Amino acid sequence: HSNNTSYPWYNTVQPVAWFLENHIEEGKAELNFSEWDNYSNRRKKSKLKSIVSQIKDNKMPLSSYTFIHKEAVLDNTKRQEILNYITELKDSL
Ligand code: HEM
Repeated sequence: HSNNTSYPWYNTVQPVAWFLENHIEEGKAELNFSEWDNYSNRRKKSKLKSIVSQIKDNKMPLSSYTFIHKEAVLDNTKRQEILNYITELKDSL
């Protein structure tokens, strides 16, 4: 979700590279924090709302990502912290 993707070693293996690039492009198209400052307040609010529902529904972080990056799994405390932060941010716009 930004232009600062750090590619892992296995990105040199096909079809992994294709699978990864596809997800990275899709993820950036949906939500790109490198573009955040250029979003209107209306757009920011709508993205923040999507972040809340994606986290609540356990859709993000993507399971194909957390399968390898176990440290990215959110426990309930972390989940709640992000939800509080995002909700506060949304209400301040
Ligand atoms: C807590 C972490 C994350 C949050 C809050 C988050 C949030 C979001 C949001 C809000 C969307 C837009 C969905 C929509 O509007 O319907 C999205 C899409 C997407 N995200 Fe994430 N994301 C997270 C982590 C990740 C990770 C780790 C990946 C892995 C590569 C990823 C890959 C994608 C992809 C591929 C899409 C577009 C396709 C889809 O909706 O499945 N995201 N994400």
